Amino acid sequence: MESEPSNLNQPDQIFRGFRIATFANNDVAYGQRHDCILAVTGGNIAWILPDDEVPALADSVQIIEGDGRWMTPGLIDCHTHLVYGGNRAGEWEMRLAGASYEEISRSGGGILSSVKATRAASIDELVDSASVRLNRLMQEGVTTIEIKSGYGLDLETEIKMLKAAKQLESAHEISVATTLLAAHAVPPEFKSNADQYIDLVCNEIIPAAKPFCSAVDAFCESIAFDVDQTVRVFESALQHDMDIKVHGEQLTHTGISAKAATMGAVSADHLEYLTHDDCQTISQHGTVATLLPGAFYCLNETQKPPIVALRKHSVPIAVATDCNPGSSPVTSLLLSANMACNLFGLTAEEALRGITTNAAQALGLAESVGTLENGKRADLVVWDVESPAEIVYGVGHNPCHSVYRNGKQIR
Ligand code: NIG
Ligand code: FE
Repeated sequence: MESEPSNLNQPDQIFRGFRIATFANNDVAYGQRHDCILAVTGGNIAWILPDDEVPALADSVQIIEGDGRWMTPGLIDCHTHLVYGGNRAGEWEMRLAGASYEEISRSGGGILSSVKATRAASIDELVDSASVRLNRLMQEGVTTIEIKSGYGLDLETEIKMLKAAKQLESAHEISVATTLLAAHAVPPEFKSNADQYIDLVCNEIIPAAKPFCSAVDAFCESIAFDVDQTVRVFESALQHDMDIKVHGEQLTHTGISAKAATMGAVSADHLEYLTHDDCQTISQHGTVATLLPGAFYCLNETQKPPIVALRKHSVPIAVATDCNPGSSPVTSLLLSANMACNLFGLTAEEALRGITTNAAQALGLAESVGTLENGKRADLVVWDVESPAEIVYGVGHNPCHSVYRNGKQIR
């Protein structure tokens, strides 16, 4: 997407003396560029040019010096359940004592205990508690985040969660993509009547939620919804012109990820039980495979996603925190990327592409964010590291030096 430089002589700002990991191409590791100047006009990247091709600049141009630091695109956390009431530390203790995630879920805990707390919380309480988590993510350079509903399971609370997510966007320097996850679990009112709840989701919740979100997600698993029910949700979403994405193949193989891909899903997420054939189907439909190593780690899972097959079929791989109170109380995207390397076997470059360019694709935002190239938003992170790998190498270490959003320094 390199185009002729525009506003060549009069950018608002230039970034000079940085080593730039653009992730804009695959020809060179990290899409890196050296000895270049990145210029910003109106909050967007105007051009990136070698030092010796940069024309004389007006005195008014703001100059930001890199002193050899690395720069990447703003990080993107493309799968979170950031908004919720209460927490589930007590359930974690039960799991430490031997109970399984499924057992807790089937006995009325799990997602349903967060539903109770979320229904009881005011929108301000939801915004306040999520703000704490959001600040932790933003400190690491996250400039775009996806936030799902899914702890309401009724029209009123699902909308309350989506509104809380929008309020977080207004109150913080971050872009929020909201996703409706009304099909996250069968609510207590519809116990043993999941089909009727799916009717409600398709006929009432999706149309009502449309103004507050751009995508619809569903959890397809024996403890949630079956393939037919999930497909009905997606058909309704597509009728309403919304993107679809899926929680698939997390605890068992259902085949929903390949099915969702054939329906045009932007991403399929979790994927521990994805098969090689599924990888081929997903690749044919351009669906992003989003890996959530935080959930794998916190649930002590052993089945790993099929990285070799994903690579073989050139499926774009994203990595996200899955921040949620049950399976992944994780508020570090850098740690998630590190886990994707150490637990799943991604390279450092794959993990970094997974939290930048491929995460943008998983949100349908690849036109505006995720890489550093002409015309993209100037969401930039500056790192105190000697190599890009070092960004995700440390555990419990945050090498973020500074963050720019639309060219404006926010950290
Ligand atoms: O992505 N898998 C389903 N949903 C969440 C977990 C939600 C919860 O346990 O509260 C996930 O892991
Ligand atoms: Fe999730």
